[in-house]
Amino acid sequence: MSEIKVIAIDGPSGAGKGAVTQALAARTGFHVLDSGALYRLVGLAARRSGLDLTSEKAVAKLARELDIAFKPAYEGPEPLAVWLGDSEVTHQIRTDEAGVDASTVAALPKVREALEDLQLSFRKPPGLIADGRDMGTVVFKDAGVKIFLTASASVRADRRYNQLKTKGMDVSLADLLESIEARDKRDSNRSTSPLVPAEDAIIIDSSDLSLAEVIARVWSVIENSDLMGANTNAD
Ligand code: DC
Repeated sequence: MSEIKVIAIDGPSGAGKGAVTQALAARTGFHVLDSGALYRLVGLAARRSGLDLTSEKAVAKLARELDIAFKPAYEGPEPLAVWLGDSEVTHQIRTDEAGVDASTVAALPKVREALEDLQLSFRKPPGLIADGRDMGTVVFKDAGVKIFLTASASVRADRRYNQLKTKGMDVSLADLLESIEARDKRDSNRSTSPLVPAEDAIIIDSSDLSLAEVIARVWSVIENSDLMGANTNAD
């Protein structure tokens, strides 16, 4: 078992995992794994290659050979610029359609398997904050802190709507809600690594909380764990 500490942040789309992850990264200096971005990249690469997104073997092969890079972004709302081969796809992978494609390829067991080593390679000193659906249940089962961050579908659709509007994307709230509900269903009902809280996860419902309140709650969970050697309950 690795000594390198992991904080797993799992939950459905739009629950605020990304913002919480960035805030925790700034406080801890830990690395970040945005595992959803990997599935989004596989979906996009599969589209670009003209593959049927449900053809498991072909998409898994592509996932194993994925040529990607995360680079510091100097402009725009995303913390990192995302590259696929020699093209920058930072915004392209964030569309709602890219999310649906990601959820489709993510339901294929061989694709999940193909991305496992890549995900594990993000675990480097001083630690990792891993954002996804199965970070605490499958990929980093030994994470020192596991948070399952959720919110009602309508609150998540509202947040996503405002987020995409800020990025200048043209979206409809009703379509987003429908798509979020369909994505929840697909992510929760698949046979491999479904979206469920780990048994030892702390569940936080952010429906009625501000981002600052969510971050404060998560931070208090971290402080009360022995993850940072900062067990505030210890004498
Ligand atoms: O977090 P996100 O919205 O970027 O994720 C996009 C999709 O990828 C999501 O609907 C399900 C899938 N996903 C997954 O199956 N497992 C993960 N660890 C992360 C994302």
